Amino acid sequence: MNNRKTVKDYIRTIVDFPHEGILFRDVTTLFADARGFRMAVDQMLHPYAGQRIDKVVGLEARGFILGGAVAHQLGTGFVPVRKKGKLPGTVISEEYQLEYGEAVVELHDDAITPGETVLLVDDLLATGGTAEAGIKLVERLGGEIVGCAFVIDLPDLGGRKRLEAMGMDVHALCA
Ligand code: PRP
Ligand code: HPA
Repeated sequence: MNNRKTVKDYIRTIVDFPHEGILFRDVTTLFADARGFRMAVDQMLHPYAGQRIDKVVGLEARGFILGGAVAHQLGTGFVPVRKKGKLPGTVISEEYQLEYGEAVVELHDDAITPGETVLLVDDLLATGGTAEAGIKLVERLGGEIVGCAFVIDLPDLGGRKRLEAMGMDVHALCA
């Protein structure tokens, strides 16, 4: 019998992935369950009911799965923020810090029209480096971020504080 009640109940934790000592939150078990997936998408939208949202921006890769469903539900377009070298058109780029080294994310330079309102979506907020880079990209094109929606917030890693210090409205479904 399926006695899972909350979004968190559908998320699996894998020990020692991708490195020893890491407890990896695996959302594939949430996405694979019809009820769990629908619950997550509906709850991510809930805080923004009644607000104008012109575009949903999703962060690679799990933010695409959630962001696509959120955009469909809102009736908006979906815009991907991708890792370097994946988008075919003219892009703008932002570098951000990883645990070891740096990474770069990119956005098509015509993906957001100045003044458009944006909901940023990803599965998980850790240090906030990825989300901060995504926010900067959207803002460089003149987009206005209405909110940042995540399934999981890992509060010990400081991402929420970092985004709130940028003036962002941050919502997560579980920790
Ligand atoms: C994970 C996660 C977030 C990001 C959070 O993605 O899905 O996008 O890390 O970490 P941060 O808050 O410290 O930036 P990952 O970089 O593993 O990419 P993937 O989804 O393509 O596997
Ligand atoms: N799960 C998925 N992505 C992540 C995690 C995690 O636990 N930590 C940092 N990025």
